[in-house]
Amino acid sequence: MEVLQAIENRRSHRAYQAKQIPEEVLQKILKAGLQSPSARNHQPWHFSVVQDAALLQEVHDEAARMMGKNGSPRFVDPKFQIFYYAPTAIFIFGEKNFDWTDVDCGIAVENMALAAEGLGIGNVILGLPKAAFMGEKADELRAKLRCPEGYDFVIAISLGYAEDTKDPHELHEEKISRIG
Ligand SMILES: Cc1cc2nc3c(=O)[nH]c(=O)nc-3n(C[C@H](O)[C@H](O)[C@H](O)COP(=O)(O)O)c2cc1C
Repeated sequence: MEVLQAIENRRSHRAYQAKQIPEEVLQKILKAGLQSPSARNHQPWHFSVVQDAALLQEVHDEAARMMGKNGSPRFVDPKFQIFYYAPTAIFIFGEKNFDWTDVDCGIAVENMALAAEGLGIGNVILGLPKAAFMGEKADELRAKLRCPEGYDFVIAISLGYAEDTKDPHELHEEKISRIG
């Protein structure tokens, strides 16, 4: 029942308190990521935990430069930051030459999102940082973030104490077909 409650309660949070999350809570969230299932148990992920606000800003600046105002309407707001100034972000880098990398990393990030929710930590899954790894600063940023050789950015997650509230997203029952 606790899992269903975490699924029910999870929301994408886009405003955070500056207060850092406790280390033992972070360790539990990371363990939930490592416990994720993966195709052939290949575990094609690498998690880089960033608690350095300047480095997150650098990734934001490069993503913003790459995407500009065309990439996401959110960039129009000068106060917008792709990590929402969360005190912790985890970058999930995935092995490039493996068929199931995106699926496996997606499962891992959701495991971490649900673990965070269950532990009272707000979070939002982030695709926007990807743009920062598509331009001329990509190698430099991958190095700073300890992305292993042969891996690239797949997805990220911001973590912190949420400062916003949000309604659940709408459910589309028509997206379910029942056969038999
Ligand atoms: C693969 C993926 C990428 C996402 N990228 C972003 C992002 O870059 N920025 C953001 O604010 N939200 C991002 N989201 C969050 C979605 O916008 C959010 O899950 C969706 O609007 C539903 O809202 P909910 O999470 O509160 O249910 C992403 C979600 C997923 C699954």
